[in-house]
Amino acid sequence: MKFFVDTADVDAIRELNDLGFVDGVTTNPSLIKKSGRDILEVTKEICEIVDGPVSAEVVALEYDAMVAEGRKLAQIADNVVIKLPLTLDGLKACKTLASEGHKINVTLCFSANQALLAAKAGATFISPFIGRLDDINLDGVDLIEDIRTIYDNYGYETEILAASIRTVNHITECAKIGADVITAPANVIKAMASHVLTDKGLAQFVKDAEDAGIKIV
Ligand code: E4P
Repeated sequence: MKFFVDTADVDAIRELNDLGFVDGVTTNPSLIKKSGRDILEVTKEICEIVDGPVSAEVVALEYDAMVAEGRKLAQIADNVVIKLPLTLDGLKACKTLASEGHKINVTLCFSANQALLAAKAGATFISPFIGRLDDINLDGVDLIEDIRTIYDNYGYETEILAASIRTVNHITECAKIGADVITAPANVIKAMASHVLTDKGLAQFVKDAEDAGIKIV
C-alpha cells in the first residue's frame, strides 16, 4: 500500500519523508491556503523533496480553463499529478489531459458511480473522501469496498486513493479492503506507530536495562 501525505506543509513532508513513509503528496486549495504559500512555488518545492506523485488541484470550474490550468501545473515538475474535481467538466478535462500523457487525480468522489466515470475518463487515481462521508453518517469505508469490487470486476487500472482519512483505523480498514493508496495528514500516519503496550513494555525494558547495567556501545 502506498502512503501519500495530505498537506502542503513542507516541513511536515520533509520529516515524514526522512522517516521513509512518503510515497507521494496530495494538496488541495484549502491546504494551499493553510500553507500561506503560492501554489506554483510550494508545489515546486514539494516536488523537489518527494520523488513520487504530487497532486496539485485546479481551481477553474469550466473545461477549457481546467485544461489550461492543468497544463500549467504539469509544467512545474515531472511528478505533478493534475487534480480535477468530479464534475462533468472535470471528467472531460480528465480525458483530454490523460490523452496528452498527464497523470490525473479525480477528487471529491462520494459514490461508486462517480468512481466508475472517473475510471472510464482515464483517471490515474480516484479520491473517495472517507471522513466527509462519515461526517454525514454514511460509511466511507463501504465506498472504498464498492469501488474495489467494481474496478476489479472490469480490470480498471485507476488506483483507489482513499482520502479524507481522519483516523488510524481508517487506514487499517483501507488496507484490509485493498485500497491502492491512502492519503492522510502526517500526524495520522505517525500515530500508526503508537501503542500503549509498546510504551509500557519499553518503559520496563529501560528500567531493567538500567538495573542490570546493560551497555552495548
Ligand atoms: C484529498 O486529496 C483531500 O485533500 C483530503 O484528503 C481531504 O480531507 P479532509 O476531508 O480532511 O479535508
